[in-house]
Amino acid sequence: MCGIIGYIGKQPATPIIMDGLKRMEYRGYDSAGLAVIVNDQRIECRKKMGKLANLQAELAKYDLPGSVGIGHTRWATHGEPNDINAHPHHDCQEEIYLNHNGIIENYYEIKAALEQQGHTFYSATDTEVLAHLIEQHHKTLNFEEAFLAALNEVIGTYGVVAISNKEPEKILAARLGSPMILGIVGDGEYIVASDVAAIMQHTRQVIYLEDREVCVLTPQGYTIKDLQAKKIDHAVNEVDWDVSQAQKQGYPHFMLKEIMEQPRVVLDCLRGRVKIEEGLAHLRGLHEYSERLQQCNRMIIVGMGTALHAAMVGEYMIEEYAELPVEIESAAEFRYRKPILDDRTVVVAVSQSGETADTIAAVREAKLKGALVLGIVNVVGSTMAREVHAGAYTHAGPEIGVASTKAFTAQLTVLALITLFLGRQRDLSLVMGQRIAKELLEMPHKMQQILDQADTIAGLAKQYGAYHDFFFIGRKYNFPMALEGALKLKEISYIHAEGYGAGDMKHGPIALIDDQFPTVAIAPQDSVYQKTVSNIQEIKARQGKVIAIVTTGDTILPKVADTVIAIPKTLEMLTPILAAVPLQLLAYHIADQLKRDIDQPRNLAKSVTVE
Ligand code: G6P
Repeated sequence: MCGIIGYIGKQPATPIIMDGLKRMEYRGYDSAGLAVIVNDQRIECRKKMGKLANLQAELAKYDLPGSVGIGHTRWATHGEPNDINAHPHHDCQEEIYLNHNGIIENYYEIKAALEQQGHTFYSATDTEVLAHLIEQHHKTLNFEEAFLAALNEVIGTYGVVAISNKEPEKILAARLGSPMILGIVGDGEYIVASDVAAIMQHTRQVIYLEDREVCVLTPQGYTIKDLQAKKIDHAVNEVDWDVSQAQKQGYPHFMLKEIMEQPRVVLDCLRGRVKIEEGLAHLRGLHEYSERLQQCNRMIIVGMGTALHAAMVGEYMIEEYAELPVEIESAAEFRYRKPILDDRTVVVAVSQSGETADTIAAVREAKLKGALVLGIVNVVGSTMAREVHAGAYTHAGPEIGVASTKAFTAQLTVLALITLFLGRQRDLSLVMGQRIAKELLEMPHKMQQILDQADTIAGLAKQYGAYHDFFFIGRKYNFPMALEGALKLKEISYIHAEGYGAGDMKHGPIALIDDQFPTVAIAPQDSVYQKTVSNIQEIKARQGKVIAIVTTGDTILPKVADTVIAIPKTLEMLTPILAAVPLQLLAYHIADQLKRDIDQPRNLAKSVTVE
């Protein structure tokens, strides 16, 4: 959701900014813009609704020479997506330009006061208010002081970068609840951005700004301060992601590349963490809290979207093998319903980006109430990764496709490891621990066997791509997979799809079944297999078409379902890791056939940084 970049150095700013915006495209956006301090110290701004190509076409008409500038991709919150509401925004005199991620919650009040002081507004955004507020303070204060004064007045969240033509060799950036990272390229050359993807091709040396920190960039160096202008020392971190990981590497879409690399991702996620002989999981982050984890009597797992579906699978795993009561909850609900927590509750936050506003809010609420808070996060150094007490990274590498795939199977893998960790602290036998450990290590190979059938699944998509509605059903461990299968399909193909527990169909949804409403049934040979077969029979009896995901060697469902996709046999608790793959491929190929914008589906954002 929204991308921010600022560049100061000796090179032309425009190509660097455009390249950075391109690398943040995956986050989802509806308009883009940039502002550069051109050589005669005027600020030139260009912004366009729609894809970056529109902005690029606009830029082709003019040269914008200058080596200080800021750029933005916007995902609309206040004001519809159009050229005017696109960022950067400016003050009355067009001397200050800024980009902003987040929401200024008290913008009505500030706007009304500024209007009384004679400011006129041109857009429907909350961001423009910030530009005028800085302008107001800039009448008596210098740029930096005015910037700080304005930030001290706003309520809400921001990741912000600003430039002023009165001090043309300076970029100011700040964060509160929305990420901001400083990349140190060289002497007097810096990139500040909301996403490391926009920085890592220029430098691996980064500083992750904390909330309420401001960064001042000039050709003479960088300074980090708090909102009272007090200097702060910051450690410089090294980004360990490889630039090539964030490229398509010959695949038509990032999503397909990310689906295909899952065997390696799961292997990386397991590396050094499984002890077969002892039937143990070695999770470095959790060891420090080992005693407290042993004493906890309740777990709540929170997340949003796909991460929430991983959490649901985790609930089944941990309750079954660690015998710890688990609840799962949408992070967006958790915070507002007064959750009852104490120091024997462990709250686990699951998030690919580590920047989802709702999940961060849940983490903060849980910490405030004394719970032990763990994170299952992919992005190293992200807000969540830094705020939780401890956790386990998923090590899936950069995930660019908006629809989460490899991060999901990595989350499931980490949840299985946590199950093993907690289970062996409690009642799980050595033998069962060894079985889980051994079977986990088989996952990459078994996932590869499914990926080898990708062409067959692509063929299926041709048969089913024209339907307008789909059900996805499953039971027990594969109930969350039914939700995830439906989410994947709707996200990228825009086809109506709903996930249900197979046992719920009779209680309403089956009324919709006819020969135009196919069902994808996840029905491996597990403890609820017979029940799911009966539910499939009920759909068939009403002329519903069924694609069944079955265990290799199943002889019953190939006779009942219209089509079957086979996945290798594994432990019941691990079937979701395998079932995810055909569900992802089916959604991908149907969307591809419909020529959808698979990596950046309409209206969606990769990382939702507003509540
Ligand atoms: C957005 C994305 C989903 C993702 C969810 C949670 O809705 O479109 O793909 O599952 O956010 O994101 P997180 O980064 O916290 O896993």
